[in-house]
Amino acid sequence: MRIVFLGAPGSGKGTQAQRLTADFSMVQLSTGDLLREAVRAGTPLGLQAKKRMDAGELVSDDIVLALIREKLGSPELRGGFILDGFPRNVSQAQALEPVLAETGQRIDAVVLIDVDLDILMKRLTGRRTCSVTGKLLNIHFSPQAEIDACLQAGGELLQRADDNEQTIGNRLRVYREQTEPLVQHYQRAGQLRVVDGEGTADEVYARLVNALGLRAK
Ligand code: AP5
Ligand code: MG
Repeated sequence: MRIVFLGAPGSGKGTQAQRLTADFSMVQLSTGDLLREAVRAGTPLGLQAKKRMDAGELVSDDIVLALIREKLGSPELRGGFILDGFPRNVSQAQALEPVLAETGQRIDAVVLIDVDLDILMKRLTGRRTCSVTGKLLNIHFSPQAEIDACLQAGGELLQRADDNEQTIGNRLRVYREQTEPLVQHYQRAGQLRVVDGEGTADEVYARLVNALGLRAK
């Protein structure tokens, strides 16, 4: 299956993508993760992207499209993929169509993970990533056993540079202004499925699997 995840920062796109890829033969394609990798590697693209990411603004369409175009041609995506954080505005959505058509692919479903704004700040300020497993954790919400498992494996709980209150505020504004119009865009195209993103990550996952018509594992 080829899926697009829409949702505000902190709605659970990455968390749910990690679960889907563990249970089904799909690959997660997160433009945020690809950009953070480029920043860490110190590539010219990464240096250009960093200022925008630190400010909570979108990186230019050209940069993001180049990353996506390169990945979408790759044979490892044959089992399906989840686009996590892309497209992020209407022009990216329009640019995606011909890129997919070139490789004879199309999107099967667009899922909006719907979460109230007041919950997002707590999720984002509490987010940590395990340095060993890459698992997304949360100091407010993750079971202690999951946090201990990371620490006992010798991992550290890393915090993202853009998970501070000021940048989060800006990311939420950018989401409302630039990304939210995609909800209507995909609704008109008859592709949108809405999943309630509140409750535990397990509850959201069950709703998601159901909305996608997949068989729970
Ligand atoms: P990106 O990395 O895409 O960040 P984002 O959209 O702001 O989304 P997040 O990753 O913050 O949230 P998420 O929905 O994945 O939530 P998660 O599952 O981690 O983008 C970062 C930046 O890169 C952008 O600002 C921009 O500059 C640039 N960029 C990226 N793509 C771009 C594009 N296409 N065009 C231009 N620029 C682009 O969950 C959050 C926390 O909540 C975690 O701690 C998790 O454990 C916890 N959690 C999740 N679900 C639950 C639950 N049900 N209950 C309790 N806690 C939960
Ligand atoms: Mg994410």
